[in-house]
Amino acid sequence: MINIAFEQVVKQLVGKVDSPRLEGRMVLAFVLGKDSDEIGSGAFDLTEEQSEHLGKILQKRIDGAPLDKLLGEKDFYKYRFKVSEDVLSPRSDTEVLVEAAGRLIFQNKMEKVIDLGTGSGCILLSLLADFPSLSGVGIDASEKALAIAAENAKRLGVGNRCQLMNLSWFKDDFVQKTGVEYDMIVSNPPYIPSKDIDDLDVCVKSYDPLRALDGGDDGYDHYRKIAEVAPKILRKGGYILLEGGINQAQEIKNIFEKQGLVWCQTLKDLGGIERCIILKK
Ligand SMILES: C[S@@+](CC[C@H](N)C(=O)[O-])C[C@H]1O[C@@H](n2cnc3c(N)ncnc32)[C@H](O)[C@@H]1O
Repeated sequence: MINIAFEQVVKQLVGKVDSPRLEGRMVLAFVLGKDSDEIGSGAFDLTEEQSEHLGKILQKRIDGAPLDKLLGEKDFYKYRFKVSEDVLSPRSDTEVLVEAAGRLIFQNKMEKVIDLGTGSGCILLSLLADFPSLSGVGIDASEKALAIAAENAKRLGVGNRCQLMNLSWFKDDFVQKTGVEYDMIVSNPPYIPSKDIDDLDVCVKSYDPLRALDGGDDGYDHYRKIAEVAPKILRKGGYILLEGGINQAQEIKNIFEKQGLVWCQTLKDLGGIERCIILKK
């Protein structure tokens, strides 16, 4: 056994991360297979293997790896999601979309939702967990992402109301395969202009999949295609809720209005960014 003091762990993270004590506690808990609230400020006995594991995680974190990718989990909205390098880690910016979708589902007694680009499943599965009579389809072009979404569906106990499909909205048979008459579409598609990817923080560009980020030359490739298919799969009176990046809301609204959808509202995230665009068929 190797005795390691909590303060030794914290010391390695000071100056390297924003919250060294919180993260130190989370990493120690992960290595010891405990909950963070079981980690006090004393010392802990680690096996040689656990101690090596701890050293590797701390080093990767110091080198810039995001904590959630190292621990394999991220809290989002009300729930905890498994994550890996195969999925975009859920962002708190996306919670405004989930809350708005929840209000519309409740007010309109919706039954059937589709999530375009489901990734970890954080949007769709949060809605399914909140609304026991809702069923949903999650689409993603990445089979590996869908495997993570399937695990998350199981963890949240909503697997029986959730169908996951490996499809691309750029393929001709997309509408035929998804089916039609959805009450709501939710989507957080890739929206970073290709030329800006290199300038992203290392936490993002090296650990989130490129396929989840790259929005093409001007960032709007996926919105243009989704705007083409959305009216075909949405029922009359159904809603589409889209996430957008900084300064993209107006152009996203224009793209979807051109396809005959009617703009309802644009919601800001907690940072004041126009993040969620809502339109109706
Ligand atoms: C920005 S991520 C969003 C993930 C998750 N919905 C979230 O909000 O955290 C976009 C997702 O779209 C998927 N994607 C990219 N291109 C796609 C395409 N052509 N067809 C279907 N899914 C696609 C990616 O694999 C990725 O999981």
